[in-house]
Amino acid sequence: MPGAQQAAKLAAEEINARLGRDFDALVVLGSGWGDALDELGEVGSQIPATEVHGFPPSRVAGHGGMIAALTCGRTRALVMRGRVHLYEGHSAAAVTHGVRTAAALGCASVILTNACGGINPSFSVGQPVLLTDHINLTGASPTSGEEWGTDRFVNLVDCYSPRLRRIAAEVGQGVGEGVYAGVSGPHFETPAEIRMLAAMGADLVGMSTVLEAIAARHCGMEVLGISLVTNMAPGLVEGGPSHAEVLEAGEASAARVGRLLRGVLERL
Ligand code: HPA
Repeated sequence: MPGAQQAAKLAAEEINARLGRDFDALVVLGSGWGDALDELGEVGSQIPATEVHGFPPSRVAGHGGMIAALTCGRTRALVMRGRVHLYEGHSAAAVTHGVRTAAALGCASVILTNACGGINPSFSVGQPVLLTDHINLTGASPTSGEEWGTDRFVNLVDCYSPRLRRIAAEVGQGVGEGVYAGVSGPHFETPAEIRMLAAMGADLVGMSTVLEAIAARHCGMEVLGISLVTNMAPGLVEGGPSHAEVLEAGEASAARVGRLLRGVLERL
């Protein structure tokens, strides 16, 4: 059994033992999304991610890594608050371990959330945006060297499920849609890079999500990606973004994005 699959199986066994079985969906709460957990319903039990096989310690403020079990309507969700990033020096395999663990637990879908910079000037700070597609500029792939299921050459057309996007658009008010450019960071982009990304067709830019979405499709899961615009991208506004601003915008939107997630989970 290949390394990533074996690691996911071990982690899934530990989560089974500590948080229970029969999960339907994984929710990954990105930067600034942690407070949304309070809106999602009764949290059953939760454990620090680092106590589970294969999860490295997170080193980013606002990313306290916890794994929680909760029920939303009929959906049993596993929630990972905090994620592992390439920019912490971790591999694509480590970044996607949570998603692969959820697949090993039997989750059929995953909701990937993140904080991002808005490139499309029609977006505003505090707005949730559904990902229609992505541009992977990290230079990495979680499928490199890994086999999973039957297909090494994973098809990424409709990577972000049209069905889940329809549900989220019905539930959320004023939710946008756009293409997410995934960069490795952790530096923010230059204004020239933002002009390049806009010319490439990107509406949003962030430092996560793309590798997890690829891994989830590789495992046959349905993916929903939701970005929270925490700042407008460099060059679109005076000055530049800061990590504090990203976390602040997340806190201010926690109730709104939490209700959106809850509505989607109830209708999965
Ligand atoms: N760029 C990249 N990643 C981000 C940004 C940004 O402006 N905001 C939040 N995450």
